[in-house]
Amino acid sequence: MFITFEGIEGSGKSTALDRLCVELDRRNRPFLRTREPGGSELGKKLRAFLLDTRSDIVPTAELFLYLADRAQHVERVVRPALEAGAVVLSDRFADSTIVYQGWGRGLPVDTLVRLNDVAVSGLWPDRTLLFDLEPQTGLRRAVERNRSLGLSQAEGRFEAEELAFHQRIREGYLKRAGECPERFRIIDASADADTVFARVLDLLPPPVLCGPPRRP
Ligand code: TYD
Repeated sequence: MFITFEGIEGSGKSTALDRLCVELDRRNRPFLRTREPGGSELGKKLRAFLLDTRSDIVPTAELFLYLADRAQHVERVVRPALEAGAVVLSDRFADSTIVYQGWGRGLPVDTLVRLNDVAVSGLWPDRTLLFDLEPQTGLRRAVERNRSLGLSQAEGRFEAEELAFHQRIREGYLKRAGECPERFRIIDASADADTVFARVLDLLPPPVLCGPPRRP
């Protein structure tokens, strides 16, 4: 099972992922937590560059770096883990490109879907949880998180974008979820962390929580 977590900055997907990993450990399920950008060795180098606000990078070049990150991540990390029987949980995946580079940066969405088909080579997620939230609330949470981690405001490339950008991202995600209803589930991420996590558990395909245990 391949599950992806999507949403705007500060939507709480990473917190929910932390809790899900604890739950899967408790149930002795084999799983791999990963993320984009940066899920592979090559991806770690790309991530440093992609998220650095000082990188002078045009939208199309940015797009191809995200796609390169994804292709490497799929073949070196995600597919091998799935073949070994693990549940793979990815903090962001192809839908992030369709929404951030498409709705955010204005690149043509149809082309992005086709390019992602190439990058994932058949490996679309079994389920995508969309953490949906007002951008004002998400950005406030992201600012608080950065402050508590001692990071500057400029540390996240997209966190520095204006509110209208994040509103477009939210709309893009909701549109994308409407286009792929069999895969997407939308979670109201404005609720408290316990409520959000209970929704996550409800919306996962049953084999994620109840499949065979780890091999000794
Ligand atoms: P990250 O620090 O992982 O933040 P978050 O907690 O918001 O996931 O930053 C990832 C950033 O990269 C985020 O702003 C979205 C952006 N991104 C894209 O623009 N396109 C992509 O394909 C991916 C995977 C991420």
